Amino acid sequence: MKIIVTGGAGFIGSNFVIHMVKKYPEHEIVNLDLLTYAGNLENLTEVEKAPNYKFIRGDIADRKFVFDLFEQEKPDIIVNFAAESHVDRSITDPESFVRTNVMGTTTLLDACKEYGIKRFHQVSTDEVYGDLPLDRPDLFFTEETPLHTSSPYSSSKASADLFVMAYHRTFGIPVTISRCSNNYGPYQFPEKLIPLIISRALADEELPVYGTGENVRDWLHVSDHCVAIDLILEKGRVGEVYNIGGHNERTNLEVVKTILKALDKPESLIRFVKDRPGHDRRYAIDPTKMETELGWKPQYVFDTGMKQTIQWYLDNKEWWEHIVNGEYTKYFEKMYGERL
Ligand code: NAD
Ligand code: TYD
Repeated sequence: MKIIVTGGAGFIGSNFVIHMVKKYPEHEIVNLDLLTYAGNLENLTEVEKAPNYKFIRGDIADRKFVFDLFEQEKPDIIVNFAAESHVDRSITDPESFVRTNVMGTTTLLDACKEYGIKRFHQVSTDEVYGDLPLDRPDLFFTEETPLHTSSPYSSSKASADLFVMAYHRTFGIPVTISRCSNNYGPYQFPEKLIPLIISRALADEELPVYGTGENVRDWLHVSDHCVAIDLILEKGRVGEVYNIGGHNERTNLEVVKTILKALDKPESLIRFVKDRPGHDRRYAIDPTKMETELGWKPQYVFDTGMKQTIQWYLDNKEWWEHIVNGEYTKYFEKMYGERL
């Protein structure tokens, strides 16, 4: 089986590539990534020499490149992680989100239509459901919740989901979609809340908390997300959507304080700053379908998962320092320069 993982040099994609390369030595895992600012091959040092792993640099929205790649690689499965993924960036530059998240996905789907595919899996997000009110803890997103987006990021992801479903119904492409809640864990780019707070707190820098810090996110360890996608590829029903989440709701302020406590840093570092425009209030996933239909259960509870994650960032200071000082962009040249 040949599996192309797009966006495999990003946070979740690299965790997924490592999981798949190690678990399935009989499968070929091809990591296709453009290496935007968010792509970092230093995430993959653990598997870069594995015989069943290969990296290809390219753009999922480049039609000629994608069609040539399908012609050459003849993949059995596509798992599409490649995306612009940061809400704040989508507010300043929506167009790049349309290009990669919408046009990139439709380009991949067109190639699947032309060359055939056993499965196209779209990695989506719970943000396509919009947000929930803070005073209704009884409400959760199910797979039937209508799409109702707030940010250019979530709008682009919802558009991609609609195209995925349209290509299934109209052209019979065998698709699945997963919609996961906020991930945390190793290799998360330090523009996102948890690694940003850890790296800044360690440097005794101010910690920006948007608005009042009362917004709620439903956190899931990245390895639980990877296992869930693996399970959907194996047992998921074609044409179906699966919500992934572990009932770990925390306010942003709780998350920041948890990190400060673990690092023994003072709460006086917290700085409440101007809120994000259109800031979603609460996300909360109902994962019943994953649990009952596929037998998935998350392995991590938030408190132990966070302790391990904070320890990982302490043990891998060099990894995020390379990002903060820009060193990581030289890795591709160093590792692949001679082979190009
Ligand atoms: P990320 O920003 O860390 O990684 C994205 C990767 O995609 C990078 O390696 C980047 O180089 C690559 N990429 C961007 N544009 C590309 C293009 N045109 N062609 C090829 N590669 C390109 O993102 P992430 O946090 O790992 O998220 C991965 C996926 O999971 C995204 O689709 C995101 O919407 C979804 N998701 C993320 C979360 C989360 O909490 N981070 C939660 C649910 C779903
Ligand atoms: P983020 O990690 O950007 O994920 P998303 O917006 O996709 O949920 O942000 C998580 C939450 O943390 C979100 O409510 C915005 C908030 N936040 C801050 O308060 N300060 C920050 O510096 C960042 C990056 C996020």
